[in-house]
Amino acid sequence: MKTKILKILKILKGTPEYVSGQELCTHLGVSRTAVWKVIRQLQEEGYEIEAKRNRGYRLRECGDVYTGAEIECLLNTRQAGRNLVFLEQVDSTNNEAKRQAEQGAPDGTLVVALEQSGGKGRRGRSWVSERGAGVWMSLMIRPDILPECASMLTLVAAMAVEAGIRQAAGIEGRIKWPNDVVLDGKKVCGILTEMSTEMESIHYVVVGIGINVGAREFPEEIRDVATSLRLYTGKDVRRAVLAAAVTDAWEIYYEKFLKTMDLSLLAEEYNRNLVNIGREVRVMAPEGAYSGISHGINDRGELLVETEGKIKNVISGEVSVRGIYGYV
Ligand code: BTN
Repeated sequence: MKTKILKILKILKGTPEYVSGQELCTHLGVSRTAVWKVIRQLQEEGYEIEAKRNRGYRLRECGDVYTGAEIECLLNTRQAGRNLVFLEQVDSTNNEAKRQAEQGAPDGTLVVALEQSGGKGRRGRSWVSERGAGVWMSLMIRPDILPECASMLTLVAAMAVEAGIRQAAGIEGRIKWPNDVVLDGKKVCGILTEMSTEMESIHYVVVGIGINVGAREFPEEIRDVATSLRLYTGKDVRRAVLAAAVTDAWEIYYEKFLKTMDLSLLAEEYNRNLVNIGREVRVMAPEGAYSGISHGINDRGELLVETEGKIKNVISGEVSVRGIYGYV
């Protein structure tokens, strides 16, 4: 059924005119009843498809249809998201991506869910992931890199999210080192990277991305630091378009990362989008907090902070960095 849906959807999307039922039958090698069933399912998912006697079917509107097939239709990738697992509900897409990895799922598997009952944030926090309010997705990759290089993937993902938001919503976000994407100083996206390793090698890495899309309000405790695309733009952004745009951008940046196994081909662009560059930041290091001027990242994704005339290389995971007046 999944492949039939995808094939019919692609044909309808690619044809502005009516497509005859017979044409669809011949293309797919199935009966008219099978085609009709697929059309019914697509209509139930929210596609506005006109069915006219003697003429066939025509797709009028997609609305905010958010399904696996819709995302797949919009993808322009070679590998990322080509194995796509779309779920109505899950504990956490990161957990599901790990389960998929353990069962041998291919490199580039993408897990997307409408809703997470146990969305996970960094530092053991939870991540509010209500139904319909955002894009909650995890990419599972099997890179041939050393475990200590994996933290750089989070920065790659932040670049992909910024580019995806630009593409899908037409707005420019900024990156807060290492991996938050912010709009007007408030966080619109969080990224949680987890991995399974053995000695010097990586079994797989899961890059979990949460983008607040349609949320109109946030719980009291995060209201001052969180935002959504809806709150920022006043408009609705299509989640399928956004998920596909982020995945497309991910593949481009990830391939560049793999060429050098560091960020040397990406650091300049990353720094252009970095919110705190050239400004005073506060580094909350385990050995004590200090302030300094942020000079952007180096090729390993470390933040260079000038303090007392010296440059310190701040490593992600160890510390959190804030603007001196607040979150950014
Ligand atoms: C953060 O604390 O900033 C990271 C938040 C990461 C949330 C995303 S939502 C999709 C994926 N699944 C999870 O359980 N977490 C990540």
